Order: sequence, then structure tokens, then C-alpha cells
Amino acid sequence: MVNYLFHILSCCFCCVVLLQFFQSSDTSLFHEEAKYDNDIKRNITWGDLNFLHTTDTHGWYAGHINQKQYDADWGDFISFIAHIRRISTERKVDLLVIDSGDKHDGNGLSDATVPNGAKSLPVFIKADYDLLTIGNHELYELENTKQEIDIVVNHFKDNYVSTNVEFQLPNGTYIPIGQKFKYFSTPFKNIRILAFGFLFAFSRNAQGTKVTPTLKVIREQWFLNILKRYPSEDVDIIIIVAHMPITHDWDELQELHHFLRLHYPSSKIQYFGGHSHIRDFTVLDDALTGLQSGRFCETVGWLSIDLQNNSLFDIEKNLKDIYSRTYIDFSVKSFLHHANISSLQDFQTPSGIAVRREIENVRKKLDLDQIIGYVKYNYYMDNVPLDHPRNIYNLLSNFILPTLRSNETVEETKSNRIIIINTGSVRYDLYKGPYTVNSHFIISPFQNDWVKVTVPKKYALKISSKLNEGGYILNSHNDDQRDNSNLLPPHLRHPRHANFNAAQYSLDLKSFQRVLDSKTFKVFDLINSISTKHNKHTRGYVTVDDFGNDGDDTKHRALRYFPISNVVESVQVDAHSDDESDVDVIFYNFITQNVLWAVRELGYDKDLQNEVEFYSNYYLGLLINDYIKLNEA
Ligand SMILES: *[C@@H]1O[C@H](CO)[C@@H](O)[C@H](O)[C@H]1NC(C)=O
Ligand SMILES: *[C@@H]1O[C@H](CO)[C@@H](O)[C@H](O)[C@H]1NC(C)=O
Ligand SMILES: *[C@@H]1O[C@H](CO)[C@@H](O)[C@H](O)[C@H]1NC(C)=O
Ligand SMILES: *[C@@H]1O[C@H](CO)[C@@H](O)[C@H](O)[C@H]1NC(C)=O
Ligand SMILES: *[C@@H]1O[C@H](CO)[C@@H](O)[C@H](O)[C@H]1NC(C)=O
Ligand SMILES: [Zn+2]
Ligand SMILES: [Zn+2]
Repeated sequence: MVNYLFHILSCCFCCVVLLQFFQSSDTSLFHEEAKYDNDIKRNITWGDLNFLHTTDTHGWYAGHINQKQYDADWGDFISFIAHIRRISTERKVDLLVIDSGDKHDGNGLSDATVPNGAKSLPVFIKADYDLLTIGNHELYELENTKQEIDIVVNHFKDNYVSTNVEFQLPNGTYIPIGQKFKYFSTPFKNIRILAFGFLFAFSRNAQGTKVTPTLKVIREQWFLNILKRYPSEDVDIIIIVAHMPITHDWDELQELHHFLRLHYPSSKIQYFGGHSHIRDFTVLDDALTGLQSGRFCETVGWLSIDLQNNSLFDIEKNLKDIYSRTYIDFSVKSFLHHANISSLQDFQTPSGIAVRREIENVRKKLDLDQIIGYVKYNYYMDNVPLDHPRNIYNLLSNFILPTLRSNETVEETKSNRIIIINTGSVRYDLYKGPYTVNSHFIISPFQNDWVKVTVPKKYALKISSKLNEGGYILNSHNDDQRDNSNLLPPHLRHPRHANFNAAQYSLDLKSFQRVLDSKTFKVFDLINSISTKHNKHTRGYVTVDDFGNDGDDTKHRALRYFPISNVVESVQVDAHSDDESDVDVIFYNFITQNVLWAVRELGYDKDLQNEVEFYSNYYLGLLINDYIKLNEA
């Protein structure tokens, strides 16, 4: 128990600074009746150079249908951009709209077509981006990369920047995806910008694409030549559109930072990151900050820079007078507020309305609203503890995984098996309301095969704990230590470790301690309701970043973020059977190497590499569909 406490508390320190968000059942805001209400929104601050930033949209262009606090769709976002552009023109300051990549895998709108993205990318490109780059999800399948070039690069042309990712032509030549850099000046303030696009050192890209690690590229001659061509005195700001986290402990970012500072000792440098699906803002030095704008169309990031008030390395100046960041909720209310418009009619632009129609048509065509069943409660990935009745992994291991059947064997194996899933095989919380074809794509669309390996019970029972060792902490990459943190959902793989001020949260931590002491979830729920009784805000993100905790435009009621393990299991094993008796261990083929690693680590010396057999192709998402169809979940 002591260990357990330590595990939860220590993680709590790093996780509490992550996004803490929530679905609200307590807003009754529906699209049509959205009005300017009394909700207090923090205002955005305008500077000389201003940015709207999105990242990791993963196809969520229809908005969050079961979560009213993110009710805006891509059409609303397009209207929002138009108003913000108008305001920037009125103020005679500059605005750049930026995206950091990952546009499919996450939602029916993108994933219900073959290839995925066929219908969603034409929606995405209707937003007029000034700079954008590629994410790893555009590179798993060659078809997706081709599509990225055909639809996105061809549309945005020069605005698409990728410095370290290339595509192979039929004759073998590699060409950049978009261009390798962009040098341009802004229309109002004539700010000279040198922009690059970097993807983290991703290695699971499709044959026919090439990712050169950032740290290698920046030492190549052609790259150095660009820096020579645009020396410090010709560059006011370097913009790095990155598909990588902007946390302090991301090595590529730190090295890139030091490298660029050698060449540009005093220029402003600005990162726009992504990939780890969190809201974050970091200060690397007095003229270099990074902004990361969440995931799944929950957030539009806002950043402004006051270039006149240049404080460079002047400790008397407060960075907050120069930089201002806001995480705007992807909601109609937020958009109306920042656009300073009070009615939907005045807000929605013709192109925004046209895109909404396009989304509706695609949804109809793909039958995304077809109802499979109904869900009675919200089930969370990590806002309640793993074994809480409202935890989705708890629902899976106790109720849904046991329904898995083998395709191969007729005989009943249910009494002697363990089913293991990695927690990353669930992508999003399951919200109450109709469970549709779209929900299926949102929760768990991965069409992996189940495989089976038979091992003695004494090993089988310990595989999960082995895989969970080290939990959320990144293991090193040496040979005998597998990085099992890749089994986690993205937003938990790279938590934010930086300067967390625990004192700010002392009250929460105290109530948290009481929860742990009481060991009952009933009390946990009670404390939650008490601690939020005086807080009338809707539940949502309360982000802590290098500028503090006032970055979210909407004041939300935060909930705890609980640690979740790399894998969870459903154990259907006879407690009285012999330790040496055979147990079938069943898992997605995707995690085969992790499981075999664990069995070896546990001391079982039989080579199992060739003993892994097909078990079923009835993947997790189908089991979930069937369960919800037949049961009240
Ligand atoms: C936001 O700006 C408006 C208009 O200037 C002002 O009335 C309002 O008080 C501001 N809100 C906050 C929270 O500062
Ligand atoms: C390959 O094709 C491209 C485009 O058609 C051309 O520019 C390039 O020179 C070719 N490379 C080789 C090695 O033939
Ligand atoms: C520059 O920043 C200081 C605070 O550091 C502030 O008082 C001043 O008004 C700013 N000047 C301009 C021109 O924005
Ligand atoms: C918002 O719009 C009103 C007019 O509708 C205008 O009077 C006011 O100055 C605007 N506020 C801001 C902060 O631009
Ligand atoms: C496995 O079983 C499912 C239904 O239980 C069926 O849809 C699928 O076609 C079967 N696959 C194979 C390879 O037998
Ligand atoms: Zn992503
Ligand atoms: Zn990514």
C-alpha cells in the first residue's frame, strides 16, 4: 500500500500540470442557441505579431457531439479565423494561423473512409493556414503521405513547410514535402520571418518516405547554407512549426534551441509544437518560447508578441509584458467572445457555413450518426482511478474483454486465459448519450488481430505487472529495457515535468490525500463534489505552464488526473490450478514484442517468438460495439 500511495502521489505532481479537463453535463449550450452569456472569459491580448495555432486535430472537424463545451465545428473555426483576421487588419497588426500536424486517426470523419482522410482533408484545407507542417500520422501509410501531398501541400503550396521529412518519387529521388523553409515578411509590421518545420525523430514511417532526425539535419551543409543566407540581421523572428512536444525535457528541442542561439544570438525564436496532445507553454530563454495547443479540436492556441518592447535578456523586463498566450476552448461561446460578436448570425461567415454543410454531408454519406446503442454514464480514461466503476479500462477488463471469443478453437478457453490490452488502445473517454458509428472510431478503431501464446500460469499472471513497471516514467532505450511507455495513450507518454509549484495545489493535494486514506471511491466522488461546490464553472482544462495557471480562456473546474498503467488485463484463470499449468495469454499483435520481452524478463527461457498464434480478428472496437448494443453501459 505504501508503494501504491507513493506511485499515485508522485505521479500526481507531474500529472496535475497536464491538461485537466472535463466533460460537462452542466452546460446546456446547444449550437443553435449559443448566446453571449455571463460566463467570464479571459480576454486574449493583442501584440504586433499574433498567432492562432492548432495541432493534432485528428479529424475532429465535426466538433465534440457529446461534449457541449467543445461544440464548435470546423465551419465555426473558419468563421473565427475570418473575424480574427479582420480585427488584426483593423488594428494594423499581423496574424499568422499555424497547424502542427496529425490530421487523421481519431474520428469517424477522417477514418471511416479508405484511405482515411479522403473526406476530412478537403474539410481541413478550407481553413486558411499561413504555415503548416506534417505529423507522424501522415506518415504511417504511404497512401496517407501521397494524399497529404495531393490535397494539403498542393492547396497550401509554399505555406507547407517540412525541413526534415521527404517523399520518394518513382525514380528514386527524394523531394521535400512542401518546402524545406520559408522566408517572408508580414504585411503590416514588415516583420521578417524565417520558418522551418520539424517532425520529431519518428522511425515507423512508411517505405517511400524519409524522416531525418532534426539534430542531423541542422548539421547538414544545405541547412547551414540557409542560415548563412538569412543572417541574424535579416531575421526578426524564427518560427519553428514542430510536430514534437515543447516540454523542457524534450532533448531535440533543447539541442535545436542551443544550436539556433549560436547562429541567432538575439533574434526571437518561436516554437509551435504538438504530438503529446497537451496544452503547454514553455519559456526557454527571454526570446524563445514554445506553445502547444492540445488535441482533437478542443483548443485553439493564441499567442501574441509585442516586438517593440524588446526586453531581450534584460531581467528588469517582465516577459509577460511581451508574450501573451491563451488556450481558447474550441467552443462557439469562446469564439464569439474573442471575436467580440454577440450573435451567431453575425458570427458565421458564408465560407464557415459552407464548410458546416460539407461536414454534414460527409457525416450523412458515411452514416456516422447511425446509433449502435446508448451509454448511461461517462467513462473516463484517467479522471477517475483505474479501478473506479466509471473508468473505461475497468469497464473493459471486467465486462467487455471477457466476451472475446477465439476464431480458431471450438472448445471453451474462457476459464484459463488472460487478456491484456495496452491502455493506448483506447483513444478517448466514452461519454454518455448515443453511441454511434462515429463513437466507435473515436473510442477504439484499431483493427488489430488478437494473438495468443501459452505459458505456465506462474509467468502468465505476472506479465502485466512486468509491463507496468516504471509506469508512466519513460524507460531508457537500451536493449534490455523496452520503452513500454509507448503502450500508453499519447497525452500520458510525455507528461510535463517542469517547475511545478505544488503550493498552488496544496488544497487539492490534501483532499487527494484524504481520498487515498479513505480508500473508497465513494468518498473520492464526495470530495470532488464538495471541492467544487463553490465553483460554478464547467469542468475542463486548468493548465499550468511556465506563465502560471491563467492561460485557459475559460475558467474551468479542474478534476484530478490519475495515473494509469501501460496495460490492463482481464484474468480468467482458475485460482486453484497448479502454478505450472498452461494459461493462454491473449493480446493485440501490436504489442507482441512487449509481451515476449516481459515473459523473458520474468525468467521463462523458452523462445516463444514462433509460438504466437492467431486468436481472433474480432477487434476491441467491435467487442465494445456489441457490448453497448446489448447492455446498458
Ligand atoms: C474583456 O474585455 C472586455 C472589453 O474590453 C471587458 O469589458 C471585459 O471586462 C474584459 N474581461 C476580462 C475578464 O478582463
Ligand atoms: C526524377 O524525377 C524528377 C521529377 O520528374 C526529376 O526532377 C529528377 O531529375 C529525376 N531524378 C532522376 C535521378 O532521374
Ligand atoms: C513595455 O513594457 C513595460 C513593462 O515592462 C510597460 O510598462 C510598457 O508600457 C511597455 N511599452 C510598450 C511601448 O508597450
Ligand atoms: C466590441 O464591439 C463593440 C461594438 O459592437 C465595440 O464598441 C467595442 O469597442 C468592441 N470591443 C473591443 C474590445 O474591441
Ligand atoms: C472470426 O470471427 C468473427 C465473428 O466472431 C468473424 O466476423 C470473422 O470473420 C472470423 N474471422 C476468421 C478469420 O475466421
Ligand atoms: Zn497526435
Ligand atoms: Zn503525433
